[in-house]
Amino acid sequence: MPDFTNKVALITGAARGQGRETALALAKEGAAVVAFDVGVKIAYPAYSQAADAELESLRAEIEALGGRCLAAVGDVRDDAAVTAAVEAAVAAFGKIDILFNNAGICAYAEADRMTDEEWDAMIDINLKGPFNVARRVIPHLKEQKSGVIINNSSVMGLRGGRRLSHYVASKWGLTGLTKAWAIELAPWNIRVVSIHPTGVNTPMNDGLAALEGKTPTEIAEASAGNLQPVPWIEPEDVAQLVLYLASDRARYATGSQFVLDAGLLSV
Ligand SMILES: NC(=O)c1ccc[n+]([C@@H]2O[C@H](COP(=O)([O-])OP(=O)(O)OC[C@H]3O[C@@H](n4cnc5c(N)ncnc54)[C@H](O)[C@@H]3O)[C@@H](O)[C@H]2O)c1
Repeated sequence: MPDFTNKVALITGAARGQGRETALALAKEGAAVVAFDVGVKIAYPAYSQAADAELESLRAEIEALGGRCLAAVGDVRDDAAVTAAVEAAVAAFGKIDILFNNAGICAYAEADRMTDEEWDAMIDINLKGPFNVARRVIPHLKEQKSGVIINNSSVMGLRGGRRLSHYVASKWGLTGLTKAWAIELAPWNIRVVSIHPTGVNTPMNDGLAALEGKTPTEIAEASAGNLQPVPWIEPEDVAQLVLYLASDRARYATGSQFVLDAGLLSV
């Protein structure tokens, strides 16, 4: 396992799901973690996002492991909150080495029934959100001439999905940002990659299932179609991929898309 001692990781959407598992995995390997999450219910989608208490419990769990964690409550749409979190991170830990742009939402809607509010919220959180965070972190990475940005896209950032046009557009957009930033930032020795998981067993799927009146397994099976006979993968699986990509073992990975899909995209 790579050693992240003396590394600092900023993770958005850290309070639960894939962000939380990645925060814990990085902290166990020695990284200081800046855990950013919205902390309150937001207007859209209708399932709840992580509560403030979940962010605090993550901080407590990391500190109980002997790790270092700074918890920052904020919305990735809010430049003031993002800027404050980045400044607090640098004040607390001196630098940022790793940005895991992970916060995101999902919801179903047919295109001809989609409201402006639904479209705008999806694009603002899933696409502009990662931009908001990266543009505040990049100056620090440039200054130290090193760093890695990992964008959590989805298999939906490499294919289409039924009743998901706003989500699919946001995730393809994030795939594009990955390539554009990789070109822009290579001269500073900053790597940028995207990851593309199939359905992951997180509260997002529970929330979507509740909205659809289905079980999480039914939702996963309907949207995924994995080759391997599993409805979803686990957040720990994603965390291990992120740790590899964040480490020097992936030193020549930039601009690339890393699929973790139980075979979904092979069909
Ligand atoms: N769950 C899946 O099946 C799946 C599959 C592929 C990709 N993804 C992507 O993985 C990422 C993580 O999702 P997850 O599965 O862990 O879901 P999740 O809902 O369990 O976690 C998402 C986290 O993001 C936070 N968040 C949401 N909106 C925010 C905002 N505006 N500002 C700050 N924080 C916000 C939530 O509070 C929550 O803690 C998302 O970008 C998602 O699109 C999910």
